[in-house]
Amino acid sequence: MRVVVLTGAGISAESGVPTFRDSDGLWEGHRVEDVATPEGYELSPSRVHAFYDARRAALAAVVPNPAHHALARLETALGDDLLVVTQNIDDLHERAGLTRVLHMHGELLSALCRGCGGRVRWPDPLSDLPPCPRCGVCELRPDVVWFGEVPYEMDRIHDALSTCDLFVSVGTSGAVYPAAGFVQAARAYGARTLELNLVPSEGTDWFHEARHGPASVLVPAWVDELGLPG
Ligand code: APR
Repeated sequence: MRVVVLTGAGISAESGVPTFRDSDGLWEGHRVEDVATPEGYELSPSRVHAFYDARRAALAAVVPNPAHHALARLETALGDDLLVVTQNIDDLHERAGLTRVLHMHGELLSALCRGCGGRVRWPDPLSDLPPCPRCGVCELRPDVVWFGEVPYEMDRIHDALSTCDLFVSVGTSGAVYPAAGFVQAARAYGARTLELNLVPSEGTDWFHEARHGPASVLVPAWVDELGLPG
């Protein structure tokens, strides 16, 4: 059985990472255009760096929750037949033990050099404009896909969606494309589709089945249900 799991901010909510669009969400206190667009960065790199530096630093205070751990168990059982595609820029999937994760919206712990185009692992602040370890130019920006930019790994994601038997969406509002359209693509290719989310997502009607509740409960229960060895 080949499985693709798409995760969004909801899977990390119970770890203490704020979602974007809930009432206490990250976008409540910020204008998206200021901190999540190339134009916002051009206007004020220091504001954007401060925003992502704070979020990167906050990662130290959070840990994976039972939903992340359940997906790691699933990977142990399925190996290459599981692909987790995440919109999240935190590293909680990896810290739970997952090794096959595609970060389609980039990663907080990575920096993108506007000089040489390289992506480098970056656990530190960027506000002090450090030089790129590859080319020496001081033009490192957060390696985050902003609105108006093309997500990473779309070819691999499309291949996986076109060959999977089951597509599961966890903790995403279904408000942002292209991820919001994955359910339709997987379905068109013949996969069964399942939504696991706190409340019905915007695309809930596209799924064969939808279960609503906290990810820390729904994801482990679903993985147990599969009855896989390992
Ligand atoms: N368990 C399951 N789902 C939850 C939980 C929880 N404990 N808490 C919240 N949710 C759900 C919310 O009900 C909501 O439907 O998670 C969803 C989070 O939605 P968003 O905040 O919109 O986050 P996401 O879907 O990941 O956003 C997509 O938008 O702003 C951009 O690039 C950013 O990757 C992000 C993208």
